[in-house]
Amino acid sequence: MAEVVFKEVAKRYGDVSVIEGLNLEIRDHEFMVLVGPSGCGKSTALRMIAGLEEISDGTISIGTRVVNEVAPKDRDIAMVFQSYALYPHMTVRENLEFGLKIRKMARADIDRLVSEAAEILGIEHLLDRKPKQLSGGQRQRVAVGRAITRKPSVFLFDEPLSNLDAKLRVQMRAEIGKLQSRLKTTTVYVTHDQVEAMTMGHRIAVMKDGKLQQVGTPLEVYERPANTFVASFIGTPPMNFLKASLKDDGATLQAGTFTLPVPESQRSLTAGRDGKAIVVGIRAENLSDGSRPTRGETARIPATVEIAEPLGHEVLVYARVGGDDMVVAKVDPHRAPSVDQKIELVVELESLHLFDAATETRLAA
Ligand SMILES: Nc1ncnc2c1ncn2[C@@H]1O[C@H](COP(=O)(O)OP(=O)(O)OP(=O)(O)O)[C@@H](O)[C@H]1O
Ligand SMILES: [Mg+2]
Repeated sequence: MAEVVFKEVAKRYGDVSVIEGLNLEIRDHEFMVLVGPSGCGKSTALRMIAGLEEISDGTISIGTRVVNEVAPKDRDIAMVFQSYALYPHMTVRENLEFGLKIRKMARADIDRLVSEAAEILGIEHLLDRKPKQLSGGQRQRVAVGRAITRKPSVFLFDEPLSNLDAKLRVQMRAEIGKLQSRLKTTTVYVTHDQVEAMTMGHRIAVMKDGKLQQVGTPLEVYERPANTFVASFIGTPPMNFLKASLKDDGATLQAGTFTLPVPESQRSLTAGRDGKAIVVGIRAENLSDGSRPTRGETARIPATVEIAEPLGHEVLVYARVGGDDMVVAKVDPHRAPSVDQKIELVVELESLHLFDAATETRLAA
């Protein structure tokens, strides 16, 4: 078992900087998800752990050992890619055995490891088939099986579920989560899908443009996003943002044509900062038309309904507030307002997120 530590890691291709100053500790036994939009450097970070990309600056260690100069095959890792990269001319059994044979393992040990992995993944009945005789989900299991048989210190996954249909993806996401909690192998899992990140990770690391934005448990990141990027990237629908400025010694947010009181618990962050430009973040579930029960202190904003999207268990209402700003609110499906209706949106004040408009970072003491 092993932890994986990035220290001041950078990756450059010629003059192009792809990752900068990356500091990240993945603990022993941890399931860490690297998440971020396309091109933010997730795969590059993973491939540097695997030794498939050189590290331009800084160090990566696995366990107690700095691995910058260690060959991929000596890093004690196993990687599962988006394209499963199974050998097409080999049976499932041969695919599972391949890495072990190369390491010249004894026949009896190979048989034991292969049948263990096949049992864990429920693919015993497929061992004599070739990859082309398998469904996408079955191929994916074989690819994971190949990683398991090697009993590595670290599993590396790069978007392993993105070739599967939506339903299978949900099922495999749960299976990989269960597998990791059974084997307890340190895991680094890359995805651009924030739902996958939230549901699978013990902790998630959010990246943007090659820079780490925030690391924390899914709930920490959801409840206290460090900046507006994380706030809008994590959670669906994305967080609403309203421009405002502080007045009344930080007790009031003036946003266009309406005001909101700053909740008592956040006054220490806003006091003495009158005139400061703030981005107010409100999640759709903290905004309703009063048809759902609310928590804590609330305030009301006049709004005009533009679109109502019924989702069955709830309706997403897109409404115009304070002139030109659009916000989305979650309302009771049985009492949804109609298009063009004038309503009052109810804001749960304790759930307001306040960001400095200049730096886009969360207001902090
Ligand atoms: N060999 C290369 N030469 C130059 N730039 C590269 C090279 N490989 C990758 N990049 C750039 O590095 C950046 C990060 O790429 P990376 O593959 O790590 O992104 P990603 O976060 O995994 O994205 P995706 O979600 O699309 O897989 C991208 O802007 C990409 O164009
Ligand atoms: Mg990638």
